[in-house]
Amino acid sequence: VRVVNVPLGHRSYEIKIGSDLLASLGNECARLKLGKRCAVISDTNVAPHYATFVRRTLAKAGFESALITVPAGEKAKSLKTLATCYDQLAVHRLERKSFIVALGGGVVGDLAGFVAATYLRGIGFVQVPTTLLAQVDSSVGGKVGVNLKAGKNLVGAFYQPRLVLCDLDTLKTLPEREYVSGLAEVIKYGIIYDAALFGKLEHSLPELTKRRTKILGSVVARCCEIKAEIVHQDETESGVRALLNFGHTIGHGLEAISNYGKYLHGEAISLGQLVAAKLSSRLIGLPTDDARRIARLFERAGLPTRLKLKGSERSRLLAAMRLDKKVSGGELRFVLARRIGKTEFGHSVPAAELEELLSQST
Ligand SMILES: NC(=O)c1ccc[n+]([C@@H]2O[C@H](COP(=O)([O-])OP(=O)(O)OC[C@H]3O[C@@H](n4cnc5c(N)ncnc54)[C@H](O)[C@@H]3O)[C@@H](O)[C@H]2O)c1
Ligand SMILES: [Zn+2]
Repeated sequence: VRVVNVPLGHRSYEIKIGSDLLASLGNECARLKLGKRCAVISDTNVAPHYATFVRRTLAKAGFESALITVPAGEKAKSLKTLATCYDQLAVHRLERKSFIVALGGGVVGDLAGFVAATYLRGIGFVQVPTTLLAQVDSSVGGKVGVNLKAGKNLVGAFYQPRLVLCDLDTLKTLPEREYVSGLAEVIKYGIIYDAALFGKLEHSLPELTKRRTKILGSVVARCCEIKAEIVHQDETESGVRALLNFGHTIGHGLEAISNYGKYLHGEAISLGQLVAAKLSSRLIGLPTDDARRIARLFERAGLPTRLKLKGSERSRLLAAMRLDKKVSGGELRFVLARRIGKTEFGHSVPAAELEELLSQST
């Protein structure tokens, strides 16, 4: 088992990464001295695989659990689902010392985390992420929340879990497309922060795509470490945390103009990172060899690398990017890479430059 500490004073917690960890959930919760009653929040894809087992290990350690199953998919991150969760918690008489276990991907983690942050002004919360994206990204850092019709993640909080348990075995049931999509975030960590990790990914990609536990353990742990380090330096996103948005301004734009239907998040940010790499070469001298290595790794991972936009799509994309909440003062600001492993935030990019780049199909 690998352990990554997230040092945040009295709200510090551990991320545990390894094989067969679900079995230890009950004992881990007991160690945290959480109350006797809890609710496991999961979705309709994940619950059939793991909920019974999870509730059994909780029961063995003396906990009484209720199961709340929400519909699978992004739509569950809504005020409506939130309300049904609160009602269920009340029915099961959860009280101040009770806690919530989020068993699922980023959707369940964000939703259940926000439930925990707000029910009775905040109760304990344990993350059990079951997608690669959730294990390396959404379960770490304490951002929780739901969507509004007007946009994604518009209602939320910063609320840290008491523990994150990444059981690598749960990734075995993850659909291929979801797994590959998660790899786009993994590769991102190499580009923004860690050239050695990037090299390791180039070297071990075949093992990684086979979901071998050994390589997964070291890679997931390193990604969590990097995110924890960044979040520790900047918990509420005023500076260095922006690095995590490499490729995301364009990625979010692509998701928005396709109404979140065409691309999975990882696919959209794969394309976004490639455009950001090209901008980096033009504007701050990212070596062309680094840009080539980046493109090659996304391609080998099975992620989309070709972006062909019609003129009308291009203007919609630019408009969507201006609306992204990470754009301040109407100016497009980007995270750009100087070389693999070294990125900088806050580069303003002239709209014309971006438009020209997007018009040459990649
Ligand atoms: N809080 C943050 O910092 C943060 C960061 C990044 C993303 N997010 C959020 O995360 C969400 C995306 O997360 P996601 O990609 O994990 O999506 P998801 O939770 O929708 O999971 C993807 C799909 O895989 C299924 N699934 C999950 N685990 C499975 C398993 N082990 N076996 C079989 N099927 C499984 C789910 O039911 C779903 O259909 C978005 O809402 C995004 O906004 C949050
Ligand atoms: Zn992302």
